[in-house]
Amino acid sequence: MSGSKSSIEYMQDKNSQLHLLMCAPEFFEVTYVINQWMQPQTWQDNPIRFKQKAVDEWQNLHKIFKSLGVAIELMLPRRNVPDMVFTANGAVVLNKRALLARFRYKERQPEEKFFAEYFESLKRSGIIETVDLLPENLFQEGAGDCIWDSQRQIFWAGYGPRSTKDAAEYIESYFGKQVIALELLSSRFYHLDLSLSPLKYGDVLYYPGAFTESSQKIIKERVPANQLISLDDEDASNFVCNLVNIDNKIVISHCSEKLKKILQERGYTVIESPVDTFTLAGGAVCCLTLKLNL
Ligand code: ARG
Repeated sequence: MSGSKSSIEYMQDKNSQLHLLMCAPEFFEVTYVINQWMQPQTWQDNPIRFKQKAVDEWQNLHKIFKSLGVAIELMLPRRNVPDMVFTANGAVVLNKRALLARFRYKERQPEEKFFAEYFESLKRSGIIETVDLLPENLFQEGAGDCIWDSQRQIFWAGYGPRSTKDAAEYIESYFGKQVIALELLSSRFYHLDLSLSPLKYGDVLYYPGAFTESSQKIIKERVPANQLISLDDEDASNFVCNLVNIDNKIVISHCSEKLKKILQERGYTVIESPVDTFTLAGGAVCCLTLKLNL
């Protein structure tokens, strides 16, 4: 019968434990500005306190993932690449294939070789099978701008502030999956993972103000109205799209009561794990992770 699962399928479900890549914030700090959220002056007010707070927040997040049964790989933190904690930006990964990121800003470009080295080691351990580089003439900032929608079996790709549109076309041919390219408008919602989040059961959270009119239209054409959850500026500015969804659990930095209710009605349980120190660099929960086994 097509509607019911065999015991083998259930076993596969059990084994499909989420596998994330993270990088501890040993060298995390806010020293430059490449997006509107970044606040080096605030950081400079009390670097020691912020550093400790970042460690505490990151460890708490790590602990929550562990308690949810997530397998976590850790990259070696390096000096002078403070944003490398945002592993989401390292690559686009699907079916054991990794396409390494090419960063727009020189501040993050030194991370490229660390991600390349790290993915080669994942290849040696069999977690990843192929690691490839993007063509040189385009920018693409990993899963931060290219999100796999497991329900629809498509990628949503953001372009404009960071990644270029031709990167979306390249990803489509590289992975052989449809890529829906969406144009981001501002340097506030500069990555797609701050602006849109496809959830496990087919719902899609998005902040219309992040997108051009024509990209908003594309989203509405693709996602039926009853699955589309439109966010207001307040929720979006609290980085609510930047969540990690594990089965029915949603791990998020902050969530308004209003949104919590909407999500609960759709069967999700919200787990808040504040990462406010990282929002001083313009990132939150999703940015701090990269899914290795999609
Ligand atoms: N400061 C980092 C940058 O501007 C933050 C990256 C956040 N990552 C993300 N996937 N949105 O690149």
